[in-house]
Amino acid sequence: GNGAAKAGKSRNIIEKMEESDKNCVVFYGSQTGTAEDYASRLAKEGHSRFGLNTMVADLEDYDYDNLDKFPEDKLAVFVLATYGEGEPTDNAVEFYEFIGSEDITFSEGGTADDKPLGVLKYVAFGLGNNTYEHYNSMVRNVDKFLTKLGATRLGAAGEGDDGAGTMEEDFLAWKEPMWASVCESMGLEEREAVYEPVFEITDKPELSAEDDTVYLGEPNKNHLEGAQKGPYNANNPFIAPILESSELFNARDRNCLHMEIGINGSNLSYTTGDHIAIWPTNAGKEVDRFLNILGLGEKRHTVITVKGLDPTAKVPFPSPTTYDAVVRYHMEICAPVSRQFVSAIAQFSPNDDIKAEMVKLGSEKDYFHEKVTDRNLNLAQLLEIVSKGEPWSKIPFSLMIEGLLKIQPRYYSISSSSFVQKDKISITAVVESMHKEGAPHILKGVTTNYLLSLKQKQHGDPTPDPHGLDYAITGPRNKYDGIHVPIHVRHSNFKLPSDPSKPVIMVGPGTGVAPFRAFVQERAALAKSGQNVGKTVLFFGCRKREEDFLYQHEWAEYKEILGDNFELHTAFSRDGPQKVYVQHRMEEYGEEINKLLEQKAYFYVCGDASNMAREVNSLLGKLIAKYRNVSETKGEEIVKAMRASNQYQEDVWS
Ligand code: FAD
Ligand code: 2AM
Repeated sequence: GNGAAKAGKSRNIIEKMEESDKNCVVFYGSQTGTAEDYASRLAKEGHSRFGLNTMVADLEDYDYDNLDKFPEDKLAVFVLATYGEGEPTDNAVEFYEFIGSEDITFSEGGTADDKPLGVLKYVAFGLGNNTYEHYNSMVRNVDKFLTKLGATRLGAAGEGDDGAGTMEEDFLAWKEPMWASVCESMGLEEREAVYEPVFEITDKPELSAEDDTVYLGEPNKNHLEGAQKGPYNANNPFIAPILESSELFNARDRNCLHMEIGINGSNLSYTTGDHIAIWPTNAGKEVDRFLNILGLGEKRHTVITVKGLDPTAKVPFPSPTTYDAVVRYHMEICAPVSRQFVSAIAQFSPNDDIKAEMVKLGSEKDYFHEKVTDRNLNLAQLLEIVSKGEPWSKIPFSLMIEGLLKIQPRYYSISSSSFVQKDKISITAVVESMHKEGAPHILKGVTTNYLLSLKQKQHGDPTPDPHGLDYAITGPRNKYDGIHVPIHVRHSNFKLPSDPSKPVIMVGPGTGVAPFRAFVQERAALAKSGQNVGKTVLFFGCRKREEDFLYQHEWAEYKEILGDNFELHTAFSRDGPQKVYVQHRMEEYGEEINKLLEQKAYFYVCGDASNMAREVNSLLGKLIAKYRNVSETKGEEIVKAMRASNQYQEDVWS
């Protein structure tokens, strides 16, 4: 919390708006950066199309007890992601607790009954995932609280669905009628949109990229000076050594990495079930493509300074730096392209034919889908195709900084036990690589291919980097010996029972087994140290026993220690004539599962959120119904109650 307070800045949003002459604030509650990105986009659009003087604000940087004095001629926009089991994002916790509080009091002494927010006009959009039970609960609840406090919403509260993969289209569909309501209420009129850059980029030919004040991928000043300093967190990664790396699959075309990442001396700690965040680097091939198509290839190592033209604009990376470093280490250049961004770029096309094509792509949803989304194109790939390789030299670099996400760390479920190895974090990561029919390029996941390349370099693989992706290792200055990766740790609520004699049931097909390797490793170690360890049941599924049976040999070792108390039930989906999934094995052992649950076994699911986790959840309700002889509705209710009491825990992703 309190980033602004620490920096001695005011936490008074009304003052801040008045000082900088703003009449619209776009607040965001964001975990991975998407909500923040949507907030910036709304702020920009509000300004360029409707002449609103907008600013973007991190929810954790302000206080809210003065919202009862929010000027009536101004607008507040809330862009709110829902996280995990219906929770607010980390930066929105304080706001959420305040605004939803039963005994809320505002600066003028107003309480909930006085409708103290009668002055506040707002707009709301939520980012959620319908595969979770508490779909978009953050925006729904905040909307409810604000309305109850007397505030007036303009337009409908929008909901974007990541689960259905329609976030972007949901957002685009929501915002037009919303803007119409805002215009009506605030007496605004749409104007011819003029692009005004948010950032000023200045070339500094007098500085050399070799100069030790120039950032070449270092995340902050300490790293630049070569003495990294904690505390390490989401704003300050630890450059950690990769102590060991190995391949877990036995397949020609698929890879799954096991890595041991050292945290000794970092003061970082983890407990079994936590997540590690890996800060990726873009593939050299994609960095080249991006710089070349923007006509920046020649200038890539030119030193630049980047400054916000408006005091409320935050530059998302340190400066001075170079084009190469910004693109390689700070921009999410490989992600799917947004249709709105294509519209924004159109005016900077190399010629009118290209512009017409960009306008068409930007305005026709189905056409865009067919030409871009369905072919998995990233921005530079799209620009290359549309212009047939002609450089887009007119696009201001500021527009790229504004329009692309800053590169996001990726999370991995830690696959080691902190009881067994407190200074070493294991991860189990399947390397993303996919060739969609009709797509001109193979889609390579940014982080997992970076990790694969680090492994190949570590092993001195004679043919490193078979995909020619060419990753730089922790920056050209390479201040650290050996192979390193920037990381931080995020604590989770996905935990073993504190009493190890309690039984546990784990369901984790594919890389979903990661935290369960940690769980079983921990229980084996506890048993070895003489503790009483309860039944430990694991359902694991993969394609083929001989190909992707993760940690096959380790399970036997744990079995030696845990004996009959450890049961591993495997489901191989592609070994036989019929698909066998973990759910099939659960059905076979339904009676035992129910019995263990009656003995208060903890039940865990990890892995694919979109299908597997949901199916396991509903199957469990059915099994409980069957073996307890109750209705399926009752079975579902029992599962719900188990979730509420943390007897049922999920660690899932899509
Ligand atoms: P990215 O570059 O992020 O791409 C990921 C996917 O996005 C692609 O496969 C594709 O479907 C889509 N995509 C990307 N670019 C485009 C484009 N241009 N067009 C269309 N589609 C595109 N993974 C593990 O392997 N093991 C774990 O233990 C694990 N634990 C996790 C725990 C949590 C809490 C979470 C949230 C995720 C976890 N993940 C885990 C997933 C992991 O965080 C990453 O999402 C995954 O490794 C892919 O990252 P990447 O950078 O390689 O791929
Ligand atoms: P499949 O790819 O052969 O369909 C790890 O990815 C394992 O999970 C694979 O064996 C995969 O099988 C399987 N799997 C795919 N969809 C699943 C689902 N809905 N429920 C359970 N397992 C699933």
